[in-house]
Amino acid sequence: MPKFNENFFDLKESYLFSEIAHRVNAYSEKNPNKKIIRLGIGDVTLPLGSKVISQLHEGIDALASAETFKGYGPEQGYDFLRLAIVDYYSRNNISINPCEVFVSDGAKSDTGNITDIFGRDNIVLIPDPVYPVYVDTNIMSGRNIIYIDANEENNFLPMPDDNVHSDIIYICSPNNPTGATYNRDQLKNWIDYALENNAIILYDSAYECFITDETLPRSIYAIEGAKKCAIEFCSLSKTAGFTGVRCGYTIIPEDLTFLSSSGIKISVNAMWNRRQTTKFNGVSYIVQKGAAAVFSPEGMAQCKSNIKYYQENAKIILNGLLKKNISCFGGVNSPYIWFKCPNNMDSWDFFDYLLDNAQIVGTPGAGFGKNGQKFFRITSFGTRDSTIEAMKRIDELI
Ligand code: MLT
Repeated sequence: MPKFNENFFDLKESYLFSEIAHRVNAYSEKNPNKKIIRLGIGDVTLPLGSKVISQLHEGIDALASAETFKGYGPEQGYDFLRLAIVDYYSRNNISINPCEVFVSDGAKSDTGNITDIFGRDNIVLIPDPVYPVYVDTNIMSGRNIIYIDANEENNFLPMPDDNVHSDIIYICSPNNPTGATYNRDQLKNWIDYALENNAIILYDSAYECFITDETLPRSIYAIEGAKKCAIEFCSLSKTAGFTGVRCGYTIIPEDLTFLSSSGIKISVNAMWNRRQTTKFNGVSYIVQKGAAAVFSPEGMAQCKSNIKYYQENAKIILNGLLKKNISCFGGVNSPYIWFKCPNNMDSWDFFDYLLDNAQIVGTPGAGFGKNGQKFFRITSFGTRDSTIEAMKRIDELI
C-alpha cells in the first residue's frame, strides 16, 4: 500500500482562491441573473501590450520553419531573456549575473517549489497575514512555522525579534494581501537579522512594479548584504499581465552559500539549478519571446500604462472606502486595498454579505491568516467600469 504524505491532512480543506471560486460558482448557479463583479483573486483584465503580442507571434512563427524551430530549451531560460532581466536590474543600479537568473512559469510555482531544497528541520518564519502559498507548501513538507503578527500596530510591517531564531524567512513587499511595503532601513534590519542567524530570506517581489514612492526599494538587492542571504522571486503576472501566459523569474546570487551539516559549502544557486534541471523543462520559447519584449523600452512603456490604469482603479476604491470612514491600507504602492470589515464583521461573513447584497466578490482576510480575521481585500485589477460600479454598490450598501 502506498504511504501518502499525511502532512496534507494539516492543510485547510481547500486552497483559498479555490474555496472562493467554489462559493461564487454556487451563488451564481442559484442566481443566474445577478451580475457579479469579481474583485477577489488578483487577476488582470487588460490585454497584453502590442509589443509583447508581436513577439509572441514571432515566437510562434519561429516554430513553423525548420531553420528556426526550437525543441527543448535551457531549463534556466534562454540567454536573450536572462540578459533582458539582467539589464532591467541594471537600470535600477543592481548588478546581477545572467547565471543568477532562473526563468520560470511564475512566482507561485517557485515560492512553492523552493521548499524542495530545504531540509525538514528548519524553523520557518512567516508573517501573518500572508500569501497562502508560503504556509501551505511548508505544511505539506511538515516544517515548523513561527508566525509573526502583521497588524495595525506595526502598520502590517513586522520587524525581526532578535530573541527568536529562525532559518527561513518569508517576506513579501509590497505585501500581498496588505499592500504594506518595507522601506530601506526596515529591509536592512531583516538582512542584518538573517546574516546574524545564518538564515535565508525568501523575498517575493511580485508587486514591485506598483511601487510609486521612489524611496522604497523595488528589489531586496538594493540593500547591502542581501546577496549573501536572500533569494528574490519575481513575476510578470502583474507587471505585464501574464497571469494566463505564465512567466516569472527567480534570482539566486552566486554569493548565497551556506555550510552543510558536515561542513561542505553549499551553493544555493547550484542546488536550485540541480532541482530545476531534474523537475522542470523550462518555459516555452514562445512565452520567453513575449517575456523579453516586456523589458524593451516599448514593452515597458505599455506595461506602465496598464499599471497606471490599475493604480487609478486603486484610487477609486480607496476614495470610496475612505468616504465611508473605513480604515484602509495599501492601494498606493500596491494593487491591493486592505480594509477593516465594517461593523466589526468577520471577514467570511462580510464576504457573504457583499456577495449576497451587492454581488461583489472580494477576498476575506481570514484566508490569509488569523490577523486577517476582521479585514478584507479588494483588487484593483478589475476593469474601470466594474470598479466604478462596485464602489457605487458599496456606497449604497454600507
Ligand atoms: C492573489 O490574488 O493573491 C494572487 O493573484 C494570487 C497569485 O498570484 O497566485
